Amino acid sequence: MLEDCKIDTLLVQAGNRRDEHFRAVSTPIYFSTAYRHEELGLKDGYDYIRTGNPTRDVLEDAVAKLEEGVRAFAASSGMAAVQLVFSMFEKGAHFISSRDIYGGNYRLFEIFREKYDFEFTYWNGDDESEIKELIKPNTKAVFIESPTNPLMKTFDLKKISEITKEHGILHIVDNTLYTPYIQKPLALGADIVVHSATKYLAGHNDVLAGLVVTNDETLAEELAFLHNSIGAVLSPYDSWSLLRGMKTLALRMERHEKNAKRIAAYLTTHPLVTAVHYPGRGGMLSFEVVDKALVEPFLKAVNIFTFAESLGGVESFLTYPITQTHMDIPEEVRLSYGLTDRLLRASVGVEHADDLIKDLEQAFHVAAKVGVR
Ligand SMILES: Cc1ncc(COP(=O)(O)O)c(C=O)c1O
Repeated sequence: MLEDCKIDTLLVQAGNRRDEHFRAVSTPIYFSTAYRHEELGLKDGYDYIRTGNPTRDVLEDAVAKLEEGVRAFAASSGMAAVQLVFSMFEKGAHFISSRDIYGGNYRLFEIFREKYDFEFTYWNGDDESEIKELIKPNTKAVFIESPTNPLMKTFDLKKISEITKEHGILHIVDNTLYTPYIQKPLALGADIVVHSATKYLAGHNDVLAGLVVTNDETLAEELAFLHNSIGAVLSPYDSWSLLRGMKTLALRMERHEKNAKRIAAYLTTHPLVTAVHYPGRGGMLSFEVVDKALVEPFLKAVNIFTFAESLGGVESFLTYPITQTHMDIPEEVRLSYGLTDRLLRASVGVEHADDLIKDLEQAFHVAAKVGVR
């Protein structure tokens, strides 16, 4: 019945009409870790919570549909989702990754490099066709964040998929910042999508969760085996919380984007701002202030924006990447691609844009008095 529906409807209806017993509209939470068997050798449903859980199944089915995949896997965090995907590869594998990535992904790749002899080549992101030149005989996948984090560059995922297909390697996309509401990487040719669902999908700064989605049955089989074997699965309660948060994703994304556009326009004209990075979609942007000395008083002065280390929630956040989300990226590496100590990242929430702009304006006033040397 929902086959031809728009994503807004799929989101709201996720889980509805799934409870056969009592026809509950809100998906029931099955806490039980074990399931009774009627007799030896008869397998007629669930066995054990790590392997399968009815609440998690509802979430995973909904996410697979939203991302236009065949199967989704709910993990205990976004990092657990990334780890699950990379656990598919053998020692010595080579990967190409976009250069400007979430610091936690960079840190995990460094661990993989040291412990599993994985090799990583970072692509600067100027022209998608450059990826071809970086492919080696042991290259297994291209990992892309689009938009990048925190510089908000976007890439032509279709073009990258054409290259990965031509070379028989996988295309993995971290779709955390745009969500399937804005971008569906699998429909553009990618093989696997990962999410920190902690962010926009959950949307309320109260759930830690990750997702992996694929549109390939063989990859799905392998991921299912590893998901159960490694065990970093999402709990029933968090599965339910995420499902509930997702229902309002369309409404939230529209408001995030409307607010972000206004704030990007405001920042672009501000004399204390030298650059604004906003990709034109979604609720994330970053900006550079004229002097690093402004950063500390500015973050102290905001009253509505929260100085905190996350994104995608209804509340507006400001993050200072070099000491927070990206602190594990060495200084010389981050400076090489323009991640400076003057850059602030904003996750624009769903408050009224007038209030958010007023808050930034007063914080700039305070910071200008104490900040600029
Ligand atoms: C783009 C991106 N991917 C992955 C992660 C990791 O997700 P989690 O914090 O849910 O483990 C984050 C977290 O900030 C992120 O921003």
